[in-house]
Amino acid sequence: MTTPGEPGVVRPAQPGDVSGLALLDRQVNPSPWTERQFAGACGEDNGEPERALVVASEGQPQGFVVYSRVLDEVCIHNIAVHPAWQGRGLGRLLLAAALAAARDAGAMRCHLEVRASNHAARGLYEQLGFRLDGVRKNYYPTAAGREDALLMTRRLAEREC
Ligand SMILES: CC(C)(COP(=O)(O)OP(=O)(O)OC[C@H]1O[C@@H](n2cnc3c(N)ncnc32)[C@H](O)[C@@H]1OP(=O)(O)O)[C@@H](O)C(=O)NCCC(=O)NCCS
Repeated sequence: MTTPGEPGVVRPAQPGDVSGLALLDRQVNPSPWTERQFAGACGEDNGEPERALVVASEGQPQGFVVYSRVLDEVCIHNIAVHPAWQGRGLGRLLLAAALAAARDAGAMRCHLEVRASNHAARGLYEQLGFRLDGVRKNYYPTAAGREDALLMTRRLAEREC
């Protein structure tokens, strides 16, 4: 990808996005997803509740977020921004769009997991109101061994009584 110009708009991912999202994920994720994992979130009907939003320019994805909603809970499964686009607000834009879509669909609470060493992602989540809710010790494999997963949650809407 060349030097960034203007970011694209956030839109639902489509089947044609699968290979581009998997390629981007391989560039930034130490445990990248397979194309098969992205397929359901990109509109291929495999019975999975996952959805993906993407920002793309000239057919190349700049970033994506994958989430699922079950009843009144939404879970963020994956989020990534191309290295050429990091630090320009796209992660915040994508995550905020996923939270808004889930809230509109009835979700009241969002949860996610993040590697303890992932300070960029933790900063993004804290900026959007997520707070630490628990720790899974030694959950993720690393080159040097294992590291903790931090569980973070955020309320999206007040529960009606
Ligand atoms: C995490 C990630 C999605 C953030 O996307 P981004 O577009 O670079 O982030 P943004 O520009 O929207 O930044 C939003 C906020 O996140 C935090 N943040 C972003 N990058 C950061 C960094 N390198 N260090 C600390 N905080 C950071 C800041 O609070 C930032 O707000 P600010 O710009 O007002 O300081 C991106 O770094 C990425 O793709 N990382 C690799 C994949 C990954 O780790 N995904 C998360 C898996 S749980």
